[in-house]
Amino acid sequence: MTDTELRDELFTMLGAGHETTATGLAFAFELLLRNPPVLSRLREELETGNDDSYLDAVVKETLRLRPVIDAAERTLTVPRTVAGWELPAGVKVYPAIALVHLREDLYPRAHEFRPERFVDEGAESYSWLPFGGGIRRCIGAALAHAEMAEVLRIVIPRVELRPLRDHPDPVVLRGITLAPKHGVQVAVEHVAPATRYTLAAMAR
Ligand code: HEM
Repeated sequence: MTDTELRDELFTMLGAGHETTATGLAFAFELLLRNPPVLSRLREELETGNDDSYLDAVVKETLRLRPVIDAAERTLTVPRTVAGWELPAGVKVYPAIALVHLREDLYPRAHEFRPERFVDEGAESYSWLPFGGGIRRCIGAALAHAEMAEVLRIVIPRVELRPLRDHPDPVVLRGITLAPKHGVQVAVEHVAPATRYTLAAMAR
């Protein structure tokens, strides 16, 4: 690759990858701090350190209930019938990620933060769409998931946080991302010394 191509690739990673993942993490902390039983279970699962299934479920459930991108855009190249609508070529179709994620038939008690729903079942690719769906989707999905999981793995067992606001931060559209309006401000109440487990996790 030329220097310009390399720069463009890096810029895309920063532009598409940094803010989205950081916002996903802000939502994860907000949801965990407002749902103490989920936070306790995550802490326990991380302290025993055997298995990542609950941690993965927390990441998936965060991105279901608080998708960072609310819709993906597709432009029809040929006429298509979509959900009974006959649409000509050239029309833009927006699968509404945020609305699909709140469908009660797909996600019972859809407004609740319940990572348990993903523990035994994987995420179905046409109903869980935080990274888009179909053949073309987010190229950084696996990296974003890993980044979110690793931050939670290090912070949750060691650091006690308290939300500074009485109520959950409203979700607002900021540019093209959905984001917490005030950025989920928290106070650090206590930081436990690193244990052998957290040091090993940090070194991974
Ligand atoms: C939680 C974090 C993230 C979310 C919610 C997210 C979401 C999305 C969505 C919804 C799309 C559109 C997919 C479609 O057209 O169907 C997309 C595309 C893309 N994302 Fe992400 N993304 C995240 C993290 C990342 C990261 C970490 C990277 C790179 C390091 C990245 C790079 C890209 C690129 C390059 C595209 C365009 C792919 C293409 O059109 O071929 N994203 N992302």
